[in-house]
Amino acid sequence: MPIPKAELHLHIEGTLEPELAFALAARNGVELPYADTEELRKAYLFDDLQTFLNLYYGLMAVLRTEADFEELADAYLARAAAQGVRHAEIFFDPQAHVVRGVPIGTVIEGLSRALERSQERHGVSTRLIMCFLRDQSAESALETLEAAKPYLDRIIGVGLDSAEVGHPPVKFREVYEAAAALGLRLVAHAGEEGPPAYITEALDVLRVERIDHGLRCMEDPELVERLARDRVPLTLCPLSNVRLRAIDVLEEHPLARMLDAGLMCTVNSDDPAYFGGYVDDTFHAVREALGIDHERLRTLARNSFEASFLDRDAADEAL
Ligand code: ADE
Ligand code: ZN
Repeated sequence: MPIPKAELHLHIEGTLEPELAFALAARNGVELPYADTEELRKAYLFDDLQTFLNLYYGLMAVLRTEADFEELADAYLARAAAQGVRHAEIFFDPQAHVVRGVPIGTVIEGLSRALERSQERHGVSTRLIMCFLRDQSAESALETLEAAKPYLDRIIGVGLDSAEVGHPPVKFREVYEAAAALGLRLVAHAGEEGPPAYITEALDVLRVERIDHGLRCMEDPELVERLARDRVPLTLCPLSNVRLRAIDVLEEHPLARMLDAGLMCTVNSDDPAYFGGYVDDTFHAVREALGIDHERLRTLARNSFEASFLDRDAADEAL
């Protein structure tokens, strides 16, 4: 039995398995530049975040209708349930769809259809987090927030993802202020490829409650001390870090050192269809590679509920 856990760092578009991508391509008359699923999987050799993102955004061409987004999310939730996930806070990237002519309403309505049924069908409670693409302009982020206004009852918060280096958090100050004023919760990717200063800036300028990744905080002892003292949750994704070459091999991942330093770590899957495992696979992998014992795996699972946007009672009940 997998340990019950919450998943807090999961891009729904990153759960698009090759088999579903080909099925949706056939349904929607989209031609993919790969002969078959095997050839597509062979393309999953990334040099860095950008080479991954190029393939990732390209493959999204197959997602066109509400039914496509519903099927994508339902397939993830079924897999997540089998991996012990009891609660999932799910990112989506509206700008990557709107730019292809798919309206934001299609994306949100489709995802919502699967999410609304998830508790009953899979035993997984859900929340939706809308991410801004940080390599797009601040104006585009503001337009996206505006376009999302009719759907705010379905969205718990906003996040920031895509190519990090050269796109510091401060670029999105205004849209984060606007999101906070709307009552949305705030998270941001920081310190994945970008420097520790981006983590500090996400906390001080964007006022985020959680840091997605945060791996590179380990280069700044004062920042580590602050994050530990304030119990700022870090949503780590060890398999992603290896596949995107943030670290060479899993055995070198700082997760154990981060726990030793008192950091509020959680373990997540990021883009599991691309990175070789879902969240319980990741728990197993870190146990094998880093010797993280069962007690510490339980701590990671407990942290995931504590760091979630579930209210206290629901989080305690899930534990
Ligand atoms: N979008 C999907 N996965 C991502 C990651 N690991 N970092 C930044 N943006 C992403
Ligand atoms: Zn991510």
